[in-house]
Amino acid sequence: MAFLNDHYLKLKAGYLFPEIARRVNSFMETNPEAAKRVIRCGIGDVTEPLPGAVIAALHKAVDELADRATFRGYGPEQGYDFIRHAIAENDYRARGIDIADDEIFLSDGSKCDCGHILDVLGDDNFVAITDPVYPVYVDTNVMAGHTGPADEFGAFEGLIYLPCRAENGFVPEIPKRKVDVVYLCYPNNPTGAVATRAQLEAWVRYAEQNEAILLFDAAYEAYVSDPEIPRSIFEIPGARSCAVEFRSFSKNGGFTGLRCAFTVMAKELNARTKSGELRPLHPLWQRRWSTKSNGVSYPVQRAAEALYSPEGKAQVAELIAHYMGNAAILRQAVVDAGLEVYGGVNAPYIWVRTPEGINSWDMFDMMLEEANIVVTPGSGFGSNGEGYFRISAFNSRANAEEAARRIREMSW
Ligand code: MLT
Repeated sequence: MAFLNDHYLKLKAGYLFPEIARRVNSFMETNPEAAKRVIRCGIGDVTEPLPGAVIAALHKAVDELADRATFRGYGPEQGYDFIRHAIAENDYRARGIDIADDEIFLSDGSKCDCGHILDVLGDDNFVAITDPVYPVYVDTNVMAGHTGPADEFGAFEGLIYLPCRAENGFVPEIPKRKVDVVYLCYPNNPTGAVATRAQLEAWVRYAEQNEAILLFDAAYEAYVSDPEIPRSIFEIPGARSCAVEFRSFSKNGGFTGLRCAFTVMAKELNARTKSGELRPLHPLWQRRWSTKSNGVSYPVQRAAEALYSPEGKAQVAELIAHYMGNAAILRQAVVDAGLEVYGGVNAPYIWVRTPEGINSWDMFDMMLEEANIVVTPGSGFGSNGEGYFRISAFNSRANAEEAARRIREMSW
């Protein structure tokens, strides 16, 4: 009899978003009339069609693959030079950030990258995560055997939880103890908070002093409109030797269905072997991709490249303006309803305190039953998310306006 990976059995319930989908489907089956009115502001999935520049690039790439003269088979596992160059040039060097083309590693999504990165890190690290948090950071560590079981509140033994509350602006305090790996996500999912330059500088200093690695998820960087707020951890001096950045085309180019993202790992990033020797991670990450992947499909890489063309950039800006317009509408509705609200200014998520005495899942049910709006219960992101719910601004304008109208009309 083969053995299974016992660590999977420690995971509490289903993954948050399938669990929400299950509850919504069950509501819709038993309430067919209300089902027609349901507006989904739960998972942060884009709704608007792909930008025109992307569609044109996809068609062109498919035509190339249809012709013997321009056909391509396996590409470089880490991504074609053209896209690695476009990313490093536009997202980094054009903003004065020193990143080389071969420090970009293309993938099919940041969610996957968050799990894959554990391949090149040891099993004995003290891992810190914020609470609330994007559940993937936690669950991938559980699956990899980096934790003990969960307690009654869902906190896993061995993980270090960094509370993010309204009082600290949802940016965790620097830990007093030594940790080895820290997950940070700014603009933040789920709270919509942003971290200031001074706060990120403090984290980089901490990482330098403790030989820690920051895993910085910048999937929502395109939503930052405040010029004072860093969009990349590599804007902070010293980050090249202590941080990995996760970036995605899902939320800027609308690639949630197309799939393309990347990690940035500088060559100065070192970690220790079990015997204490300092070694760079870049060759390991390079090797990981060569062995375990054949990369992202050629048409998708061309599609991603098109986002950096002048038309592509303008079309991305329109998409961001659209979703942030929704965020403003939804945020105002929540304010008008008299609720305490955070985020939704430099991020597409609005984080709302539930009314006194109502927990996150009860609020989820109330929103679904009374207003036929799907939200995400804050407790699904960790125990410090209890007493909050998240509204996603990824929607059509008509749905955002209708959801706002219903929120104002609810019996708060
Ligand atoms: C979310 O709703 O939190 C995101 O869509 C999750 C993701 O990007 O995987």
